[in-house]
Amino acid sequence: MAGDTEEFKKFNEEQRNKNIILVGMMATGKSTVGAILAEELGYELVDLDHVIVETEGRSIAEIFAEDGEHYFRSVETAVLKRMLESENKLISTGGGAVLAPGNTDLMLSKGHVVALTATEEEIIARVSGDQNRPLLAGNAEERVRRIMEDRREAYLFAHYTVDTTGLTAAEVSQYILMHYRG
Ligand code: S3P
Repeated sequence: MAGDTEEFKKFNEEQRNKNIILVGMMATGKSTVGAILAEELGYELVDLDHVIVETEGRSIAEIFAEDGEHYFRSVETAVLKRMLESENKLISTGGGAVLAPGNTDLMLSKGHVVALTATEEEIIARVSGDQNRPLLAGNAEERVRRIMEDRREAYLFAHYTVDTTGLTAAEVSQYILMHYRG
């Protein structure tokens, strides 16, 4: 994103009051950074995975086990659409929310979309021992590598990307706030 050019000013005028939408691979810090940003801005914090769990009355692992990934994605898309009907929200999405056709265009039209990334090694370290991510069941390390490879381009649609490797959640949040406020 260029410095104080006309283009940058226009970008920021368009973004003001919009939702901030965090996308990115599992364990890149979307929920933690989202909570800090929501607090700073006084925005409603929406963790999409939590809304899905509340809506369905069961855990994500149960949804995957009982009805499969396809069903989970349809609920995820419906919840995303519902959440984007209003403004001033801080929406932290699940890593696969960018996969269903139409979701990325919808996010771009309704929010300031920021992709968080981290190195493969960092993500593997962060998810080790995590039982709550059904897509990582079995060999988590191998699964992370495979998913990152499959989704190499999936998060590039965002307005910009922040590499969180070696940064604290507070540092990542400050960087996003600076861009959002202009
Ligand atoms: C998923 C990521 C998870 C959750 C589900 C599927 C994915 O969210 O939505 O387990 O496909 O990447 P987090 O990114 O918050 O872990």
